[in-house]
Amino acid sequence: MDTIHYLSGFGNEHASEAIPGALPVGQNTPQRVAFGLYAEQISGTAFTAPRGENRRTWFYRLRPSATHPPYRRTEARHLRSGPFDEVPPTPNRLRWNPHPLPTEPTTFIEGLFTMGGNGSPAIGAGAAVHVYAANTSMVDTAFFNADGELLIVPQSGTLRIVTEMGVLRVPPGHVALIPRGVRMRVELPDGPVRGYICENYGASFRLPELGPIGANGLANPRDFLAPTASYEDVERPTRLVQKFQGHLWETTLDHSPFDVVAWHGTHVPYAYDLARFNTINTVSFDHPDPSIFTVLTSPSETPGTANCDFVIFPPRWMVAEHTFRPPWFHRNVMSEMMGLVHGVYDAKADQFVPGGVSLHNCMSAHGPDRKTYETAVAADLAPRKIDNTLAFMFETRWVIAPTSAAMESATLQSDYDACWGELRKAQVPTKEGSTP
Ligand SMILES: [Fe+2]
Repeated sequence: MDTIHYLSGFGNEHASEAIPGALPVGQNTPQRVAFGLYAEQISGTAFTAPRGENRRTWFYRLRPSATHPPYRRTEARHLRSGPFDEVPPTPNRLRWNPHPLPTEPTTFIEGLFTMGGNGSPAIGAGAAVHVYAANTSMVDTAFFNADGELLIVPQSGTLRIVTEMGVLRVPPGHVALIPRGVRMRVELPDGPVRGYICENYGASFRLPELGPIGANGLANPRDFLAPTASYEDVERPTRLVQKFQGHLWETTLDHSPFDVVAWHGTHVPYAYDLARFNTINTVSFDHPDPSIFTVLTSPSETPGTANCDFVIFPPRWMVAEHTFRPPWFHRNVMSEMMGLVHGVYDAKADQFVPGGVSLHNCMSAHGPDRKTYETAVAADLAPRKIDNTLAFMFETRWVIAPTSAAMESATLQSDYDACWGELRKAQVPTKEGSTP
């Protein structure tokens, strides 16, 4: 197994060089870069974005990225993109069983299956939710996404993600954040993989504000790990595939595009271990809104109303007194797509299994299933730890329209509504004077 070195800290101005002296000192574009390397900037935000939000990185590479032949359209298989108009968005609650692992050789990019989404890369707002299932490492192939950043949530199997900035190792329980435009190659060191992806067309994910929580807590910045420079000097035909305005395009280079010898900047990939999330919740009664579990947020133009939030339901102690402890019944203006990495989600006693997906769109009524409800109202409220569980949610201000492939998939459960169907009516005393 390779030893991977990381740089610590979300949003930092990171710097790394694989060869001492490759990184210019005191300027970005010397007249002659060391070793004849080419200086090249990648801008993840507009040049004039406010300093706190500005994301850009300087590469020092064997060849500039501009040395490529024209791209041509290529097969996108089950990958779809906004605008999502294949089927009318449904107000019905939907739930899917895990996406099956492939039986034919399938790489990470070939194994993408879009569940749904909203907005569009054309307007730079919204998000898509994909699942992936693959059994073959990408070889002499690289991918980048011009349409948005990728938040990758492995459910099964480890990803080794080679990027222009270096290598990330991402097992289940960890996530990877690959910025817009950054080239990647996904290898499967331990065999087949399955997981989830939020493709974010909008403002890049950042840590949420902490407000009265204070200076610490939730996902702490230093636990986000950026790779260190490691380059390939490989002269072999390499497919370079990009997603651009919803379609896949590819060209063939005569070399590996992972030829960055040194880099510095803020537009960088990260790996994050969700076990490092400092979970905060009630120590008295009731539980706060699940926004207390926000790991990363992509804001929209409306304050407090996210283009997309990434929220987790990790292991945690439940201590609330005189409280219904599972997630409550609710209807939400925001739309919620959930997944489960492992264990059991505390609102669903069964049928929501690791690798599965659920969708509760704007104002659709949902909450604990009957079994969960009846157990919770009868429970002894001693302190209890919910352990060995990791559910998550992509929550977005726009309705998530499923793809036609998701609606036609054999994994779509036909009886999801039944889990609430048998909730018993409350028995209130007959009002005096009321007529039957
Ligand atoms: Fe919900």
